[in-house]
Amino acid sequence: LTRSLDDLAAAHVCALLRRAGLTVAPGAVVEREAVHAAFSTVAAYRPLVDALLGLLADDGILAADAGLLRFEPAVAAVGDPAELTAEIVRAHPDQAEDLAYLDHCVSHYPQVLSGALAGTEVLLPDGSDERQRALIDRRLAFSDIPLYRGLIARTVARLSAEAGGRPLRILEIGAGRGYLTWNVVEELRDLPDVEYTFTDLGRSFVLDGQREARERGLTNMRFGVLDITRDPAPQGFPAASFDLVLAFNVLHATPDLRQAVR
Ligand SMILES: C[S@@+](CC[C@H](N)C(=O)[O-])C[C@H]1O[C@@H](n2cnc3c(N)ncnc32)[C@H](O)[C@@H]1O
Repeated sequence: LTRSLDDLAAAHVCALLRRAGLTVAPGAVVEREAVHAAFSTVAAYRPLVDALLGLLADDGILAADAGLLRFEPAVAAVGDPAELTAEIVRAHPDQAEDLAYLDHCVSHYPQVLSGALAGTEVLLPDGSDERQRALIDRRLAFSDIPLYRGLIARTVARLSAEAGGRPLRILEIGAGRGYLTWNVVEELRDLPDVEYTFTDLGRSFVLDGQREARERGLTNMRFGVLDITRDPAPQGFPAASFDLVLAFNVLHATPDLRQAVR
């Protein structure tokens, strides 16, 4: 499956380049800047386009020499994305929905790369994260998330046990849909003297988190909106008011990692 997905990724990238009017054939040469011009790539998406080209280079399909790109003979073997998708779905029917979502996303790349459409409108059609959540739920078992959240949950439980009766005050930043939260708080459920504060930049995540905690009958949780790119104190989170700060898959979203960690 992994190999087929790699082939599919290369096929999608080649199809996108063709759709942008570029010649994708053995020996064809194109300047990197001409690729960006063909996509009318906005500055924010230049690294993404470069990464897509890098993906072809990794597969030996494209040779990159400074600003010049040359298609290698291997490009002749790159398949058609629709046919490859159908083949993968025949062999792995459980991948059908994820591949349909991938197809939906890739088909909008030209508008997104040129800035005509926000990426979030593609990922979250009609403002709903239903499709994205379903994908994440299906992918969980294949990801490293269960490993990390299990380790974090056990570490937090151990720290709480070692706190010697002092309350352990935990702050989670960017808790989002709670992929980390619920594992950790369930692990701590029976421990006295633990206060878990669930925060996110998005108020809707905080309200959903509050509802979920009620449904789970969790009483040791607090909730609040917190933007970690700004000073927490004026936002209601004074300095040194927590013993432990957790952030899972969050800090990469801030413009300055060092400042966010500080
Ligand atoms: C990829 S999600 C991860 C959510 C959750 N931690 C998880 O693992 O499921 C990133 C989260 O960070 C939040 N976020 C982004 N920028 C933030 C900021 N400046 N301050 C706090 N949270 C932020 C987003 O709203 C989103 O919920």
